[in-house]
Amino acid sequence: MQIITDPAEMQAIAENLRLQRQLIGVVMTMGALHDGHLSLVRLAQKRAGTVIMTLFVNPLQFGPDEDFERYPRPFEQDAALARSAGVDYLFAPEPGLMYPEEFRCTVDPGPMAGRFEGSARPGHFRGVATVVLKLLNITKAHVAFFGEKDAQQLAIIRRIAADMNIDTRIEAAPIAREPDGLATSSRNIYLSPEEREHAAALYRAIRHAEAETGRGRRDLAAIAKEGLAIVSSAPGAKPDYLCFVDDDTFEPADEAAPGKAYRLVMAVRIGTTRLIDNWRYMCEGNRDT
Ligand code: PAJ
Repeated sequence: MQIITDPAEMQAIAENLRLQRQLIGVVMTMGALHDGHLSLVRLAQKRAGTVIMTLFVNPLQFGPDEDFERYPRPFEQDAALARSAGVDYLFAPEPGLMYPEEFRCTVDPGPMAGRFEGSARPGHFRGVATVVLKLLNITKAHVAFFGEKDAQQLAIIRRIAADMNIDTRIEAAPIAREPDGLATSSRNIYLSPEEREHAAALYRAIRHAEAETGRGRRDLAAIAKEGLAIVSSAPGAKPDYLCFVDDDTFEPADEAAPGKAYRLVMAVRIGTTRLIDNWRYMCEGNRDT
């Protein structure tokens, strides 16, 4: 595995790979690697000949009161994990080369970025959209892999790729979970042992929604309310939002229509740690009936 820190060098390598007709897959991360990230690498290995992992804690997507400074940065451990997972190139750019003094332009991610994570974290998706476009241009990937864990991020990236005719296929990977159902996340290490136990409530709400929709209920608003009660019953849990949305547009949905896909999305504070999770639900049946 080669470690590259200069965007221009990464871009030159990527150009060369393309000339050698290599299919390039990219997995973008902010490091503190866990099973979720590694599941993306495994998928990338199946789909592409060369796998580039990017590792960059992107300052542009953190708000002034967020955890940019304390975000975990175990670089040596990450590099070892990436190497043993079979990553070919680890692109860990110098912040000053990504955002030099004269840097001015950002990507407007459109209306979807104003809701949920976007309203809780103003400017977050502009920062994500900007760095993702930069990393796509630097790595020249044919396919880019993103986790469903960050479903709104994924939907926004898909929207940008389609709207801007980006020549990279966007592929999604399912959410990797701990044995009790908690979605793996770099931020889980902020949880105390008690908080870690209480965090399982997010997945209990998902299981409830799965069971209720599974027996034919379509009253999404009521199911979400029940989910909210499940999450709120965990000590120290403060839900930011928990509701169903249209899976394409992220517009809130109260009632399921046949043939349409929805997503239960939630953000919950456990103590000072903010966790997100989601679950996709396809309402069976014919659209016309
Ligand atoms: P990060 O939070 O490090 O996540 C990197 C990728 O791993 C994202 O596509 C995310 O959805 C995926 N991922 C995280 N946890 C996962 C899980 N439990 N199961 C499956 N996939 C999971 O998301 C970002 O970084 C950044 O916003 C980034 C896209 C790199 C731009 O800076």
